[in-house]
Amino acid sequence: MINKNEMTSRSSIIDLPVVSDPRGDLTFIEGARHVPFQIARVYFLYNIPVDSLRGGHAHHELEQVLFALSGSFRLKVDDGTTTTDYWLRNPRQGVHLRNLVWREIDCFSQGAVCMVLASQPYEESDYIRDYDAFLGIVRG
Ligand code: TYD
Repeated sequence: MINKNEMTSRSSIIDLPVVSDPRGDLTFIEGARHVPFQIARVYFLYNIPVDSLRGGHAHHELEQVLFALSGSFRLKVDDGTTTTDYWLRNPRQGVHLRNLVWREIDCFSQGAVCMVLASQPYEESDYIRDYDAFLGIVRG
């Protein structure tokens, strides 16, 4: 379950399908069906120290959906106007981040695994790593 304080228009919760039977739960993802883009890249964060701080950037074009496949963490989202905290801990609930969203991830539990689905291959030039530059872009 994800607890959020408030939702911004540039981030939203995605609920994935689940097939449950006595053998366990099965969740699946099809690009452009269960997430709002074709999936060009998948990456995951693991072996994460509990006091780690990840993210600290936005993207010009990239869209992503983040999941807590195991354990839990906080995803802090900032669209330049509104800040939202998502607490991810359910593998079948993700957070879709549109472009131009500043994100930070912290409060990792022991053994947390964060899986990210991305709309584009890795491209460093798509990153905005300076917060003031980010504000300048989103506030025009
Ligand atoms: P970064 O996106 O800054 O990590 P996070 O947002 O989780 O804190 O990426 C960290 C490093 O990994 C950086 O040097 C770029 C590299 N990287 C790739 O080479 N390919 C990828 O798909 C990603 C996500 C990162």
